[in-house]
This record gives sequence, C-alpha cells and structure tokens, in this order.
Amino acid sequence: MTPTPKPGILDISPYVGGRATAPGASKVHKLSSNETPLGPGPAARAAFEAAAKDLAIYPEGGATVLRRAIAAAHGLNADRIVCGNGSDELLTLLANCYLNPGDEVLFSQHGFLIYRIATLANSAVPVVAPEKNLCTDVDAVLAAVTPKTRIVYLANPNNPTGTYLPVEEVRRLHAGLSPATLLVIDAAYAEYVRRNDYESGIELVTQFDNVVMTRTFSKIHGLAGLRVGWAFCPAAVADVLNRVRGPFNVSVPAQAAAAAAIADRAHVETAQAHNDKWLSWLTENIRALGLRVDDSVGNFVLIHFAKDGAHTAAKADAFLTARGLILRGVANYGLPDCLRLTVGTEEANRLVVAALADFLRENKP
Ligand SMILES: Cc1ncc(COP(=O)(O)O)c(C=O)c1O
Repeated sequence: MTPTPKPGILDISPYVGGRATAPGASKVHKLSSNETPLGPGPAARAAFEAAAKDLAIYPEGGATVLRRAIAAAHGLNADRIVCGNGSDELLTLLANCYLNPGDEVLFSQHGFLIYRIATLANSAVPVVAPEKNLCTDVDAVLAAVTPKTRIVYLANPNNPTGTYLPVEEVRRLHAGLSPATLLVIDAAYAEYVRRNDYESGIELVTQFDNVVMTRTFSKIHGLAGLRVGWAFCPAAVADVLNRVRGPFNVSVPAQAAAAAAIADRAHVETAQAHNDKWLSWLTENIRALGLRVDDSVGNFVLIHFAKDGAHTAAKADAFLTARGLILRGVANYGLPDCLRLTVGTEEANRLVVAALADFLRENKP
C-alpha cells in the first residue's frame, strides 16, 4: 500500500511554463510568457528594494496597504479584495473552496490551462465548450451548463487566443447561470484592452453575488517574478477565501512593490502605449508575410503555421529559437499549428518579423 492522491490528480498534466533559454544564441528575447518588455516602473522597483530591510518579519497577513492601493486605483471596496500569490493561486483557491467531487467546471475550448488543473485537483469534472473563431461562444457555454455546473471560468481576454467577449455577451452568459454557480472572470490582460464594449468584470461583481473577477500584477505591472494577483469578490466569497488562503500568502516585497505599481499610472500608460503601437505593428507585418494572425486585444498574438511541410509551427519555433527568439508552442491548448508571440521590445519585435521572413524564404517546401 502507498499513499494515494485524491481522484483526478494523476490525470493532471503538470503546467509547463514558457521556455527561457535558447542554447547557442548570443542574445535571448523571451517572448513566451506574456511578460512586459518594460519591466516594473521605478516606484515598484524602489519599493521592492526598500522592503529588503524587512525580510526577517512576516508579512501583514491581510495585505491591507496593498488592498487599499488597489481599491483606490479602481474605486472599489477594499474589504472585497483578496490578494494572492499570483492570480493562479486565487483561481485555484476558488476551486478548492467551492468544488465537491463530481461537480462540473465549465470553460471554453482554448481556455487557460490552470482551470483544468484546479478542477482535476478537486476531483471535479472539466467540461469544455467549443469556441467559434477561437473566441468563447456564449451559446456553446450555456448549452453545456447542467445542474452539476459549479464554476464557469471565463478568461476575458483569453490566453492564448487574444480574443475577448464584449460586456453584453458576458452579461448574457451570466444570465444563463444558476445563482448557485460561480462565474469567475479571469481578467489578467484587462489593462491592455482598448475596446469600448469591454468591461473587466468589476460591474458584474458589484451587481451579483456569484461573480468573481481576478487580476494580476504579472503582466502590465511587470511583477511576474514576485507573484501577486487579486480577486474582487462578493463579500461572502471574500470571507470564504480569507478562511482558506495561506495566512501570509503575499510576501513583504511583493505587497510593497505591487502597492507602488498600482499607484503608478504613468508607468501603466507607458506600457499601454507601447503595446498599442507594437501589437498592431506585429499583427500587420506578420500578416504581410502571408501568415494568419488573429486580432488580439492582449499583449500577445497567435500566429498560425502550415499543418505540414516546411512551414510548420514546430519548424518555425526551432528556427526562431536558434536566433534567440523564444515564442510559445500552444499544442497543449489544442493549437498544434500555432505559436504565441508576446509583444516585446522594439528590437525583439523587429527581429521576430525579420526572422519569420527569412524562415519563409529559406525553408522553401
Ligand atoms: C489568462 C491568464 N490568467 C491568469 C494568469 C496567471 O497569472 P499570475 O501570474 O497572476 O498567476 C495568466 C498568466 O499567464 C493568464 O494568461
């Protein structure tokens, strides 16, 4: 006899992060994990460095200063914010708190991988709704709802497709759910979206007791290495999460740097302007090479390659990696013929387009 994990856990394929090395390349551009090329702003860096003197003491467990900073930045009630060790922790914690074995968890075909992992880890059943044009299809999601549906995860915008649902579609989705089903809106890329019909989820959380929105400091704020995320919740959900989360789940430097980052509007605006410019530049220039690129509202694009022959995604990946350009293969998202490219520095973006042009030219079928 050996100790056995809960049913479902051994069905999990462990999450594999974006590669960071390219053996042989003289300079590496990591464009595989949707990190910001600008890094954190000066205020966040300074707060992180100042926190070095406090490493011997435990963090303030309620992350009060950070929650107040988030609340002030977004006009929210700080009591309804819960901070986590990355939004991954909060997405997982919600599953840990609300799922019973056999419950169903619904998400879309190319949804973020953590949803499946969190579901299986709680002996619950992942249910996948097909997408339409690589975008969440509300009708398909609603058609997959059953009395056992306990959580619906919606990445808006979605990773790795870069597509999004307008607020009216999110409302329609919510209207089709039972009040006992939790709708979790994962808005990790919200700050990048420039669409009038987009809303990150705050309005819905304010209105309904069964909607949670999660956000992250890993993307536009440039703090992926520190691991900080937050959830805006109905009061009852915040109470539940606060009972179960680690009492010191956000470290001293993470709390300090994140509080400084969210107050630094100038840095966020600089990062938005960089993304606006280079997201459309990359989309247009890669399309001009004859490759399909979907419209994205995030800080990344999905590039489609040939199914077979000289121009497959795997061959492009190897070609780019040899030049130190690391993109993300997304076969584990059901997209074996695509690579995801994060918007990088001007230098990296130009190198990727030039490398793709060479790849298509040199690797003739
Ligand atoms: C859709 C989505 N949600 C959540 C996360 C997790 O972010 P964090 O670093 O806050 O755990 C990511 C990171 O890639 C993501 O793409």
